[in-house]
Amino acid sequence: MDIKLYQKASKLILGSGRTAAFTGAGISVESGIPPFRGEDGLWNQYDPVFLDITYFHKNSLKSWELIKEVFYDYFGRAEPNTAHYSLVQLEEKKLLQSIITQNIDNLHQRAGSTNVIEYHGTSHELICTKCHAKCFAQDKHLVNLPPECEICGGLLKPDFVFFGESIPVEAAANAADEAEQCDLFILVGTSGEIMPASIIPYNAKQNGAKIIEINTNPSNYSDSITDIFLRGKATDVFKTLLEVISESLTEL
Ligand code: APR
Repeated sequence: MDIKLYQKASKLILGSGRTAAFTGAGISVESGIPPFRGEDGLWNQYDPVFLDITYFHKNSLKSWELIKEVFYDYFGRAEPNTAHYSLVQLEEKKLLQSIITQNIDNLHQRAGSTNVIEYHGTSHELICTKCHAKCFAQDKHLVNLPPECEICGGLLKPDFVFFGESIPVEAAANAADEAEQCDLFILVGTSGEIMPASIIPYNAKQNGAKIIEINTNPSNYSDSITDIFLRGKATDVFKTLLEVISESLTEL
């Protein structure tokens, strides 16, 4: 571990007027949720077609059986880890103004972060494909699959973005605003493989933001836009980073 890199990162964080974190599956790995890509990735075990919107409408039962297994029975039990809590601490110290997350697991909000832009939606709500009413996902919805809307009887779908669907309008606009306004982006646990989310950090950089990246491995960003790469597990990196920031704050 190169402590000088942490000191540089701390300086950027303390000197920034507005900072956003841009998080991906890697931040939730230590909560027991596997990433999408790589050896232990979800797409190594499951064919992603069950999250294709056309397939879902034609094969809603088959899709829902896998959705229940992956996103509710298994991931639904995950708890926030110290990386999620570190972002809360940064917010409390007024060193972080927002989080743009590609994750649908609700763990940032559960940890206590208050300004979370869910770019890919959330697994914690369901939306009716017919009348568009939303409801919280509850165990009762998972008993008789596929679940139906209590208002109109239409097919319910998790309120996250399936392949072939567009990004929620408000989330897209808010993320674009952050990429325009921020002086600093902190990328955590994302490979940068999936458009249009992957473009956001490039836009931020183009608008003058500095980029700190936290990842166990180099990503698409590391050699292109990253200014400071803190290599390691998100929980370990944040532990050291917060220690260095606290030391700097006491010196001020
Ligand atoms: N700490 C930090 N980074 C980690 C850790 C960890 N403990 N474990 C894994 N990583 C890194 C990996 O090195 C990788 O770069 O997290 C990244 C996870 O990448 P992906 O699995 O591609 O996840 P993500 O970037 O969030 O995927 C984007 O793809 O299928 C879609 O909609 C899905 O939102 C998802 C999007």
